Amino acid sequence: MSQNIQQNDSSLYGKQIILGITGGIAAYKSADLLRRLIKAGATVQVVMTKGAQAFLTPLTFQALSGLAVRTDLLDTESEAAMGHIELAKWADLVLIAPCSADFMAKLANGLADDLLSTLCLATDAPVAIAPAMNQQMYKTAVTQQNLLRLNQQQRLIWGPASGVQACGDQGPGRMEEPEILFARVAHQFKLTNTLQGINVLLTAGPTQEAIDPVRYIGNRSSGKMGYALAEALQEAGANVCLISGPVNLPSPVADCVKVQTADEMYQQVFARIAEQDIFIGCAAVADYKVKEIATQKIKKNDKQLALTLIKNPDIISEVATFENRPTLVVGFAAETENLLDNASAKLLRKNLDLICANDVGSLTTGFASDQNKILLLMRSSEEHIESEQLPLASKKELSKQIVNIIAQRYNQKKSK
Ligand SMILES: Cc1cc2nc3c(=O)[nH]c(=O)nc-3n(C[C@H](O)[C@H](O)[C@H](O)COP(=O)(O)O)c2cc1C
Repeated sequence: MSQNIQQNDSSLYGKQIILGITGGIAAYKSADLLRRLIKAGATVQVVMTKGAQAFLTPLTFQALSGLAVRTDLLDTESEAAMGHIELAKWADLVLIAPCSADFMAKLANGLADDLLSTLCLATDAPVAIAPAMNQQMYKTAVTQQNLLRLNQQQRLIWGPASGVQACGDQGPGRMEEPEILFARVAHQFKLTNTLQGINVLLTAGPTQEAIDPVRYIGNRSSGKMGYALAEALQEAGANVCLISGPVNLPSPVADCVKVQTADEMYQQVFARIAEQDIFIGCAAVADYKVKEIATQKIKKNDKQLALTLIKNPDIISEVATFENRPTLVVGFAAETENLLDNASAKLLRKNLDLICANDVGSLTTGFASDQNKILLLMRSSEEHIESEQLPLASKKELSKQIVNIIAQRYNQKKSK
């Protein structure tokens, strides 16, 4: 497998992985695996058993991961920083490579007498093991029984490979090579990142509310974020329908409906909403429209001109409370102050599953900018909100990250 695959593999970007290392001779290969995961954009917390530390020092893995290696369960200092339950919840994947015969036995029997085994019990993330041991240790009946149990317990078993072993024996028990394990990790995330065949309806751009035949009330939305999202959704396999206000951008998807006003956007959304799995409201829809649109151009006769504005329909709120509601409803909050408070309130008030909040008051992240910085707020239960900060990046890059998260949430919600 080439280096290229790692660098371009966006499925690992931003993923949080616990790499468990146990006491086997193959532990030295885990340094290479770790390097590949880090290079692909994952954050990796290494956890070593006591056995593993007889083969390699934590310092090696600390240098490669940039994070202090965790080794002890009953360690007050580490617990104060990130407790073991918190760490277990943090992980998107736990990979144990190499996984010793001893550790397989522990895992198969649900023991929790060290940090790594406790994390395996405390996490709801997938746990994958890469067995590595002498061929006879591998073939022996009790190891095979453990393997069977682990399989029944939905643990992912990656390998072992067969061949010449460090001890000189030949047979099954070699740890899979780091590049193969890396590809397995990437594939595992692709399974949860995919939106293959999923119908997504996305709104983007501003709306324009007519005052008279030549004037309108508009806003500064450029449509860049929504269009980048449409492209990323399509790349993730979704069937995307883009409903767009007036923007100067070519549509990245074939199914693009152009509208001008909030009312038109509302009609186009509700004409399609019943078939949608996901709705993403990225458009900056005008809150108000002019009550009476002048049929002729308004002349500048008077010193003042008073326009009466009335409320537009709240498209995303109505989608979120629609009886045949899409599985996931995602909103955007463009704020100029109190980002967290305003976005959290909007998430709850509008019954959304996820909200992407951004500060449009800033020049670097505003509407017309090619870059953005997003605070993602996700509803994990009725009242509980999880947050994730996506740092400053191009709108294209951010879209890939947002789509990965949307896909994970969607697939999780569907599997419940
Ligand atoms: C030189 C040496 C190499 C070893 N290699 C392996 C191995 O490849 N796989 C394995 O399962 N055990 C191997 N062991 C035995 C484990 O280190 C031992 O079972 C240990 O208790 C595992 O601890 P852990 O599972 O908590 O990491 C080896 C032991 C020694 C002394």
